[in-house]
Amino acid sequence: MTTITICATKGGVGKTTVTANLGGYLADYGARVLIIDADVQPTLSSYYGLNDPPASNGLTHLIQSATTADAISHTNISRLDLIYSDDPEGELQHWIARTPDGRFRIRRALENLQDDYDFIFIDTQGAVGGLQDAAIIAADLLVSPITPEMLSAREFLRGTVQMLERLGDLRYLGFERPPLIGVLNRMDKTRDAQDIAGQIHELATAHPELDIHIAATAIPATVAYRKAASIQTPVHRVESKRSGPTPSALETMQNLVQNLGIDIEKITREEEA
Ligand SMILES: Nc1ncnc2c1ncn2[C@@H]1O[C@H](COP(=O)(O)OP(=O)(O)OP(=O)(O)O)[C@@H](O)[C@H]1O
Ligand SMILES: [Mg+2]
Repeated sequence: MTTITICATKGGVGKTTVTANLGGYLADYGARVLIIDADVQPTLSSYYGLNDPPASNGLTHLIQSATTADAISHTNISRLDLIYSDDPEGELQHWIARTPDGRFRIRRALENLQDDYDFIFIDTQGAVGGLQDAAIIAADLLVSPITPEMLSAREFLRGTVQMLERLGDLRYLGFERPPLIGVLNRMDKTRDAQDIAGQIHELATAHPELDIHIAATAIPATVAYRKAASIQTPVHRVESKRSGPTPSALETMQNLVQNLGIDIEKITREEEA
């Protein structure tokens, strides 16, 4: 089981889009996937339709009881399950802050799912706080979408480093911060976007001590992502063929999965065996 947390200090960069579509892609290709909505605004929770009535519990129960019992809902995508967000007032941030082991609760709850899932994705809110820390502590890998806007490269690096530094002292508790992969999202062909993408690659390479890598694949800005969201379908199903030079969403997901070091064929082979 690999747990991947999608995090960024900025809002609106594509965290939920990436979580939903990577999850949907891997499930369609045979992996057992759980997506967890750890954002106060429950966008991921309703990204896909549900097969059955929702589970009686969601994120609050997962954190407060450190268990996923009665908190797993089944989406209408085969093999794709969901833990929904049920914290509209943002109470969990406070609860985690005043609970001594609050930041370790997600990690502990997920330990029991080792045999149930190949991948767990945790979507977070674009900010820093106890809930985001808890999602990072639970992760084997962090993925940060970056949109190529003016100043975005430096902001990305500064914000990301600050976010990870918050957790530095946890090394005394045996916590090693997971590697982070930045993924350029909503890339267009403008000179600006290309320049900023280049700067981000350079900055990451110039600071190997940060252990931040930028995925070779960028996600293009295309209408397919919005369309897929509005019809509650994984984007690779909506755009499986390319028209023109821009890679199709299917190709983009395939490449991205490879960039994240995921061997999907190995997983499907194991599942069949
Ligand atoms: N590659 C893309 N091409 C076109 N539109 C995109 C792309 N990625 C995301 N979007 C659109 O951008 C908007 C923001 O994306 P999304 O909700 O995934 O961001 P977020 O980081 O989760 O935001 P928040 O911080 O509010 O949770 C959405 O309307 C989404 O459909
Ligand atoms: Mg979101």
